[in-house]
Amino acid sequence: PTGYYIEPYRPQYHFTPEEKWMNDPNGLVYKDSLYHLFYQYYPDSTVWGPMHWGHAVSKDMMKWEHKPIALFPDEHGYIFSGSAVVDHNNTSGFGTEDKTAMVAIFTYHDMEGERSGATNYQTQGIAYSLDNGDSWTKYEGNPIIGNPGFKDFRDPKVFWNNEAESWTMLLVAGDHLQIWNSTNLKEWEKVSEFGKDQGAHGGVWECPDLFPLKVEGTDEVKWVLLISINRGAPNGGSGTQYFIGDFDGTTFTTDQVEHKWIDLGRDNYAGVTYNDAPNNERVFIGWMSNWNYALDTPTEKWRSAMTVPRELTLRKIDDEVMLFNYPLQSFERHVAMAYPESVLEILPSRKRIMPLKYGNQSKIQFTLSVPNAQMYFKNTNGDSVSIDIDREKKLVTFDRRKSGKVSFSDEFSPGVQQMKIKNIPQGPIEITLLLDHSSLELFINEGQYVMTNQIFPNDFFRALTIVNNSESELIIEDFTEHKVERM
Ligand code: FRU
Repeated sequence: PTGYYIEPYRPQYHFTPEEKWMNDPNGLVYKDSLYHLFYQYYPDSTVWGPMHWGHAVSKDMMKWEHKPIALFPDEHGYIFSGSAVVDHNNTSGFGTEDKTAMVAIFTYHDMEGERSGATNYQTQGIAYSLDNGDSWTKYEGNPIIGNPGFKDFRDPKVFWNNEAESWTMLLVAGDHLQIWNSTNLKEWEKVSEFGKDQGAHGGVWECPDLFPLKVEGTDEVKWVLLISINRGAPNGGSGTQYFIGDFDGTTFTTDQVEHKWIDLGRDNYAGVTYNDAPNNERVFIGWMSNWNYALDTPTEKWRSAMTVPRELTLRKIDDEVMLFNYPLQSFERHVAMAYPESVLEILPSRKRIMPLKYGNQSKIQFTLSVPNAQMYFKNTNGDSVSIDIDREKKLVTFDRRKSGKVSFSDEFSPGVQQMKIKNIPQGPIEITLLLDHSSLELFINEGQYVMTNQIFPNDFFRALTIVNNSESELIIEDFTEHKVERM
């Protein structure tokens, strides 16, 4: 099978390009039993350059088949981020009697325009494919949306809008979101704006997404807006905020005041969700890096990976509706060879060292009964990563300052990362850790609180130490370590 590599830091169950530079996931769409993943790609170097769309397909988003490059730069510019739809009703006329068109909607970035000092060098274009993304034709009427004078004007996310019975496009313009509608994917009309006075504005708004979700256990449907921002994330650099509100087919509204983030780690950026995903699942993939140091990470042949596919859900905790993100059910099929469940009893201020069998590609899961505990991975080189959970202070502290290679960039780990956990229900909390060759994803309470981080240890981690920082005994009845493999 394609896509299995043994190289230093090469993730074994996260998506990576075979070689060269990758950033944002693009054009996430499901068609004819296949998940398509397009992505920002520069085939000539391991650093960012003239952007193309790379392409891969998968039945389950774990085992990917690499495809030829889908979109190449042209006279209108580089191909920046965007989305893809299946035009089931042939509204665009790109389809034929027996072939349904897949349509990609993306941003053109005109380098010459940028160099000449203009501000209108980002426009929107479309292309279509009649062979499931293998070959593409750019629309001769491109660009379909010109630039009205915004320096940043990009990352169109298009979806079929049942309320308006038309296509909706989300587009970001520096400090706000614009919503556009169309009946044929070619002619667009701006219908509303959102966000100049809402949310975090420490950086430019990028990569929007908007979708409805039922609040679990109720009949209430809320709309979730994702906006990536760079810079200005709580732990530095790039991050993705979300808003919970309502959408009437034209306008998004929210009374949310607080800033909310999908992930408080430093390496989950530009994430968006699938169009047409089966089983009503809202499936999210993010780029596992951060513009603060993305160009400098210590890999040689390729650069950067995607998060594992995650399902987004809305749950009411106390009176607050929160967005959860957690590995998909189908991810579990790749979790092999259960390490027998073990029971741990740790006295106050004592610790237990759990040897790890699959310290390079594992899923570790357990519940914590006490309010305060620390856990850390260590290897024989003295590298360590630690996570401190303090339910009294309502704070999680993630420390990768000594996690192995860190000096490739001053911005990689200047300090610890912190995440507030103000809303955790009473009782034991569930901890899931996904460890791959160069990343650690932490999920608390099935994705209520998440931290995704790259790490570059000098050797595999061979043990996880759990320290009881509470006054009562820590009893863990269900500690498991599983190997994760693409099967
Ligand atoms: C986000 C981003 C997008 C842009 C793309 C360029 O990481 O900056 O806004 O379209 O990357 O590669």
